[in-house]
Amino acid sequence: MVDVIQLKNRHEIEMIRSSGQLLHELFDELDEKISSGMSTYDVDKVCHDFIKRHHAGAPCLGYCGYPAATCVSVNDTVIHGIPSKKIILKDGDIVSVDITLDKDGYVSDSTHTYEIGKVSDDVHKLNVATNKALYLAIEAAGKPGARVHDIAAAVEGYIKPFGYGIVRDYCGHGVGFEIHEDPLVYNYVSLRNPNPKLREGMVIAIEPMINMGTYKIITLDDGWTVKTADGKPACHWEHTVAITENGAEIMT
Ligand code: MF3
Ligand code: CO
Ligand code: CO
Repeated sequence: MVDVIQLKNRHEIEMIRSSGQLLHELFDELDEKISSGMSTYDVDKVCHDFIKRHHAGAPCLGYCGYPAATCVSVNDTVIHGIPSKKIILKDGDIVSVDITLDKDGYVSDSTHTYEIGKVSDDVHKLNVATNKALYLAIEAAGKPGARVHDIAAAVEGYIKPFGYGIVRDYCGHGVGFEIHEDPLVYNYVSLRNPNPKLREGMVIAIEPMINMGTYKIITLDDGWTVKTADGKPACHWEHTVAITENGAEIMT
């Protein structure tokens, strides 16, 4: 990761937009296909097959040794769920599918949390709130003069009254040339976190990770799977967003 914020020019934004468009189409396909009875391996396969079919790449595969194209995280798994033939989706589950896609060298990153069949009202409310927090954060990012902390404040300000836990140990990030670029984009405000101004040409992944209970997380012995410390469910939504002269534009 390069330790400066890399601004993207018009052509590069156009290429990231095209990468993000393809990722959006992948989610359209997944919307149709994801269902109870599938394993998280099957979900990953739908995504990876789509990526290969479109001559794109899956930069997560092999990233720091990560073994799959996507992260598929069920219920109390917050992020980085490793696709497995043993994890079978069933009615009432929530599953976040986090996909990073490389098209012609340009990277986009997006996550949707799916509800399988009928989920409990509590879980549905958590999912709707997490999605709403993402869109409020994007809106905040698009305001003239906005800084990275305005994104954090938008998520925190909306989520706090629900009493949910905002994950602190992971955050959004710059994206476009690589999976993870500067700046870090936290979902809570702290003076300890960097707070650069959002400038035209920046491309960032905004990704609130919201837990029904505690914000605390644990990592399993596989070195990847991140779960809530209290076993309660978690939701995750993510878009790749470009800062343009017209505000924040969703690429995915
Ligand atoms: N897509 C993830 C993100 O939003 C990155 C996953 S890295 C992996 O930042 F190696 F776990 F796939
Ligand atoms: Co992601
Ligand atoms: Co991301």
